[in-house]
Amino acid sequence: MATRTNFSMLFLVVSGIVMVMLWVLPAKADGELRETNMTVYFQDYSGGPNASSLPMVGFPGKIWSVTDFGTLLVTDDRMTEGPELTSATIGRGQGISVTGLDGLNAYVSFSIVFTNEAYNGSTIEVQGNSNQFKAVREYGVVSGTGKFRYARGYVTVETISYDRSTYYALLRVNVSVRHY
Ligand SMILES: *[C@@H]1O[C@H](CO)[C@@H](O)[C@H](O)[C@H]1NC(C)=O
Ligand SMILES: *[C@@H]1O[C@H](CO)[C@@H](O)[C@H](O)[C@H]1NC(C)=O
Ligand SMILES: *[C@@H]1O[C@H](CO)[C@@H](O)[C@H](O)[C@H]1NC(C)=O
Ligand SMILES: *[C@@H]1O[C@H](CO)[C@@H](O)[C@H](O)[C@H]1NC(C)=O
Repeated sequence: MATRTNFSMLFLVVSGIVMVMLWVLPAKADGELRETNMTVYFQDYSGGPNASSLPMVGFPGKIWSVTDFGTLLVTDDRMTEGPELTSATIGRGQGISVTGLDGLNAYVSFSIVFTNEAYNGSTIEVQGNSNQFKAVREYGVVSGTGKFRYARGYVTVETISYDRSTYYALLRVNVSVRHY
């Protein structure tokens, strides 16, 4: 009787440990977990003939602008390797932003879509909320595809320059992701 109880106890303890191990060890995808850091640039036009970022909809009868509650902004910026306008295109930054009640905070969701040779067809999915007028905005990386499957991490976005007359803004996007 005593032996049998001890055996049952042992079984429970061992199976408990195995279950905890299975839970703690992350599900392993192809290869080793690695970290990639990169800096890319978004060439953003918030107006003019080649606008790549515009308010699309807002509350009826209210102003539709990035500083007004409820405005939905749609963005599809060319992404370049370097800061210059002539720098090689390596992808696009595509997504939306919805301005919050205070006109400052915005909910942001966008994909970094790569078209360069190294990451062609792969994406990094970004989501977050931040004060859009802060010098450095930080968002979470919630997932990815292709070379960035299982991605987790963060991005920072900084407005390097803005030219009011041409609506041109240069955005620096630093990406730090862990992926397989
Ligand atoms: C990526 O950047 C982070 C934060 O600066 C740093 O700690 C890490 O070592 C970098 N990783 C690689 C692979 O360069
Ligand atoms: C808009 O894009 C067209 C086609 O790429 C280009 O010829 C034109 O110079 C651009 N206009 C401005 C104001 O950037
Ligand atoms: C990226 O892939 C597409 C097809 O999926 C191909 O047409 C294009 O040439 C590729 N670009 C690079 C830079 O390899
Ligand atoms: C982004 O990366 C650049 C280097 O590529 C660095 O100079 C800059 O300080 C970084 N920005 C932030 C907010 O970490």
